[in-house]
Formats: sequence, C-alpha cells, structure tokens
Amino acid sequence: MITNITESIKYIGVDDMDLDLFESQYSIPNGMSYNSYVIFDDKTAILDSVDNRKCDEWLNNVNVVLQGKTPDYLIVHHMEPDHIGSMLHLAEKYPTMQIVASMRAVQMMPQFFHEADFSSRIIVVKEGDTLSLGKHTLNFFMAPMVHWPEVMVSYEQSEKILFSADAFGKFGALSHQEEWDCEARRYYFNICGKYGHQVQTLLSKCSSLDIKIICPLHGPILTDNLSHYIDLYNTWSKYEPETKGVFIAHASIHGGTAHAANLLAKMLREKGEEKVVVTDLCRDDMAEAIEDAFRYDRIVVAASSYDANVFPPMHDFLHHLQLKNFQNRQVGIIENGSWAPCAGRIMRSILEQLKNIEIIEPMLTIRSRINPENMPTMKALVDALTK
Ligand code: FEO
Repeated sequence: MITNITESIKYIGVDDMDLDLFESQYSIPNGMSYNSYVIFDDKTAILDSVDNRKCDEWLNNVNVVLQGKTPDYLIVHHMEPDHIGSMLHLAEKYPTMQIVASMRAVQMMPQFFHEADFSSRIIVVKEGDTLSLGKHTLNFFMAPMVHWPEVMVSYEQSEKILFSADAFGKFGALSHQEEWDCEARRYYFNICGKYGHQVQTLLSKCSSLDIKIICPLHGPILTDNLSHYIDLYNTWSKYEPETKGVFIAHASIHGGTAHAANLLAKMLREKGEEKVVVTDLCRDDMAEAIEDAFRYDRIVVAASSYDANVFPPMHDFLHHLQLKNFQNRQVGIIENGSWAPCAGRIMRSILEQLKNIEIIEPMLTIRSRINPENMPTMKALVDALTK
C-alpha cells in the first residue's frame, strides 16, 4: 500500500492478513501491518523494511514509489525480524545505499545476516545525532527496551513527525478500520508491558518535541488528537489503572469455579459496580486477559486446585503477569478444591512476588461447587471489592 503522509513523505508498508500468530503467540484476527516509510528530499531515505513474509510486495512498493531513484539511506529503527526481514534484499538491490542504525543494532546485524558485510556502508547514530536529507532533518533518540535494546526513534524536524518504532503500534492491518485503543492496549501490554520505565523515559524525551504526526512501525499513522494516545501511553507505562472496574479471570475444570466467578460478577453488578468483566482463561485469548488485568483497578483470580498446585491455565496467566511486571493492583482470590484445596496458597505466593499487590481478604474457598455455607464469605469478598 502506498499513501501520502505529507507531500514528501510516503507510507510504503504492507498488511499481513495470512499470519496465524504474531510473534508465534498473539492472535491477530484483523491482521497486522508492517509499516515502512520513505522521505524524498535532496537525499532519499527509506525508514525500516518489513517482515520477510511480505518482502516481494514491499520491494514492489519501493520500486513504484522511487520511480527509478536510488535511495541514499535505509534507517533501521528496530532489528526485530518483523522490521528487518526484507532489509538484505534492499541492501543487495542498492549497493550504494547507506544503513543508519544505533550501535546496538549494528552489533546485531551479523546475527541475522551472517552472509552479508554491511561494514563499509554503516552510519552509526547515537542519542541526539541528526541526519540532514536537505530540507528534512532526522533527529535520533535512543529508546532501549521499547521493545528491544537497540531500538531508536527519529523525529523529522521540518514536518514535526515522530517515527516511533514499536511505540504507539497496534495489532490489526491498516485495511481494517477499527478503534485504536483496544488493540493498541493489547499490543502494548503484551509487547512492551514489562518495560514501563523505559517507555516513561521515551515519553519524557518526546515531551520536549513539537509532534504533529506519529508514524509507528505497526498500525495507523496518528495525526489527530495526539494527546489521547500519549496520555494513554503515560497511564499504561506508569502501571496505573485506566478504567475503574473489576476483572475476574477464572480457570475452571468442570465449571464449579466458573460458576462461582460468574456469581461474584452478578453480585458485584447488583451492588452497583458498573464495569465487571469475566474471562475464561481456558478458552479466551490470553493476551486479552493480560490487557484487561492491566486495564482495571481490581482483579479477582478464581482457579481450581490441580496436582497439589493451581490449574495450569491460571498458572500460565499469573506467569504472564509476572513477566509483564504486573503491579499496583488489588487482587481477590477464589480457590476450589474437591479434597485438598491449595490453589489459593499457590496463587497468593505468586502474587506476593509482584510489586505493590494488595490481596483483598477474605479469600473464598469452595469445595467442588459453591453452596449456601460459602455465601457469607462471598458477600464479604463483594463488600471488600466494592469498599
Ligand atoms: Fe514490531 Fe518489536 O517489533
């Protein structure tokens, strides 16, 4: 797809509607875009390539847009294969084109391209360096761990455009129109969630820039109401809840735990809680469950006991939260066990390893199915969650 961003800057990225799982783990029902850009000036710069899966389509875009010109530079903001997967083909096609990247990116290049020697055509840039293309000037800022250590972003000074690498990206192809927040949030917490501190550092660098357009490596080019996106990134990267509400995640073997979780949801709604979301960790999208755990200010984990431990789908969920640096939340616990309930103890021990997690008491223990004797504790849990 080729579109104009401005008169001299064009989008030349591609949509991927065939990939089953992004990064071999994230469902992408609406596809994925691998974004790439070109800036025309006295010098011509291509900004990032695309996943090798779409190399031919991208090279065709490059060919069409260049109209016989030879690019002077390829700017490499990020070395992950969804962005450098087609770079070797471009480098071979244009042997005079120079490659602009951070030192960490240059060090990574032989890992991906042992057959190539780019050494004579590399320009290493560091924090604050600029590259003049004529009227356009790119200003480089390092953004380590947003989402890999070699990542940098660039700011085009004359048109005030931030090329933000993975930051401000989202799941979903550009040909699929949808609201930004939901799939950007799922993308953020699953891809960058662990690196809130580093995202804060990048936001702080960007706060001194006058940004009119954000061009990320995935998802739509952001042109209006930029404070909406920046404010959300600020909330997310500070690990602050975005929405007041209770997220209930259950992992149930035969339905008894799920029934208790749904009863809790019903009682919370009856008590006036406006936003209550229930997820079945055995069947629903894990990445969305992670997203919702970060989104709401309170969560409840409900799981069966299993092999003297916790039922694996819940263990997997909590392990994901641990990996993503989950913190600053209140968490309620429901455990089930037909003969020796232990899921609660295991869940509590994992949660206690996380930063600033407050366990909401009382924990509810059910045996096989919820019964009238459990109701006082259930009511106490509802009261504590809605206090
Ligand atoms: Fe889109 Fe971290 O790669």
